[in-house]
Amino acid sequence: MSSTISSTPETATDPGAGRSGAWRERDRAAVAPAYSRYTDLVIERGEGSYLIDVDGRRYLDFACGIAVTSLGHRHPAVVEAVHRQVDALWHTSVVTQHVMQTTAAERIAGIAPAGLDQVFFANSGAEVVEGALKLARRATGRPAIIGFTGGFHGRTMGALTLTTSKAHYKEGYAPFLPEVYATPYPYCLRQCSHAPGEPCPIAAGEMLERLFQQVVPPGQVAGIVVEPIQGEGGYIVPPAGFLATLRRLCDAHGILLVADEVQSGMGRTGRWCAVDHEGVTPDILILAKALGNGLPIGAIVSSARVMGAWDPGSHGSTFGGNPVACAAAVAVIDTIEREGLLARARTIGESVQERAASWRAQGYGPADVRGRGAMVGLEFLDAGGRPQTDRVARLRARCEQQGLVILSCGLDDNVIRLIPPLTISDQELEQGLGVLEAAVREVDG
Ligand SMILES: Cc1ncc(COP(=O)(O)O)c(C=O)c1O
Repeated sequence: MSSTISSTPETATDPGAGRSGAWRERDRAAVAPAYSRYTDLVIERGEGSYLIDVDGRRYLDFACGIAVTSLGHRHPAVVEAVHRQVDALWHTSVVTQHVMQTTAAERIAGIAPAGLDQVFFANSGAEVVEGALKLARRATGRPAIIGFTGGFHGRTMGALTLTTSKAHYKEGYAPFLPEVYATPYPYCLRQCSHAPGEPCPIAAGEMLERLFQQVVPPGQVAGIVVEPIQGEGGYIVPPAGFLATLRRLCDAHGILLVADEVQSGMGRTGRWCAVDHEGVTPDILILAKALGNGLPIGAIVSSARVMGAWDPGSHGSTFGGNPVACAAAVAVIDTIEREGLLARARTIGESVQERAASWRAQGYGPADVRGRGAMVGLEFLDAGGRPQTDRVARLRARCEQQGLVILSCGLDDNVIRLIPPLTISDQELEQGLGVLEAAVREVDG
């Protein structure tokens, strides 16, 4: 079998051909250049695990619109739910209650860690980060927020203040929110000084304790915001016990633990939330991305006690909890349950990790293979431990030529992130991994 996935392999290697070029020109003229894209593809349709461009070329989608379309494109159950809702009601905002928002809140509370029973809806990841910062300050009466180096939380000013994955995102926007601090994330492969296999002092809370001693007294801290698996920062899985350490420190000092599961949540890791793997319950959980499988929706989930700090009207949103987006979210939860997609995420992850580890064992693969469930990172380093940024860019381009869309991430953009749909078939997964394997063999450092 050819490693080219496209049903029209003669054109799949030439995305400049056909109508795409003209669309690219129009896009360049009409869309702000800030909205840069990972690829040059001009997509017209989505179908299950595939993206289809304006010239009919098919691309297997291992990016899912950055961990959003976890049920693939146009999953029939979501399409049906959205159509039904479009025919019933689109919008009421805070003018009235509507049944779909209540239903979605109940269903989200049902999949969140026990005790997180109430939901505030917004429209995006950054918006729920903003809301969580406000809630943490309001609930504690304290000003300071702590995040982690390498974290990505979005582009609005509060979320951006907390973002330290790339300085470029912050260039030209200062001044930022005061009283926001960054402390190291336990990225043991590259940023910790302990020997491999030795306990990680960062994961044990050493740097946070030092921050409390030297920079900001813990009694001033409203919240610690953590990605349980760092996303844009490089698909970094922290050592076991790190989240429990944060929980302990938060409890000791009356700080709220905020889990940013915008990327890692909604079943991607094989559990509803990545914190579930560690049995840690945050005070505030934030979800977005895959929650609506592509419809814009975000959720701040917390206990009635913490949510009680927000009296009526103290936070708001015109579009938050929109009926159509809520209908999509309910359909997403139903579908993940009905199709057993939490278990499927785990088996996908095992296949991907096993396969990538075998490339490593043969000496041409990534220096590190990591992840949880279907959220897998392959970090490429040369023999001297230097990031293979250029190799990863060429790998991505090679895969795209062969009809496979993959993304990179990490400080040096030297990590391939694999986030295929949880609905992907074994055959599609095998095809995609075949293309990636061929590319990894061909594209050297
Ligand atoms: C962990 C995390 N938080 C927040 C965001 C921001 O989400 P959005 O782009 O929907 O504003 C992202 C986006 O990638 C994310 O990965």
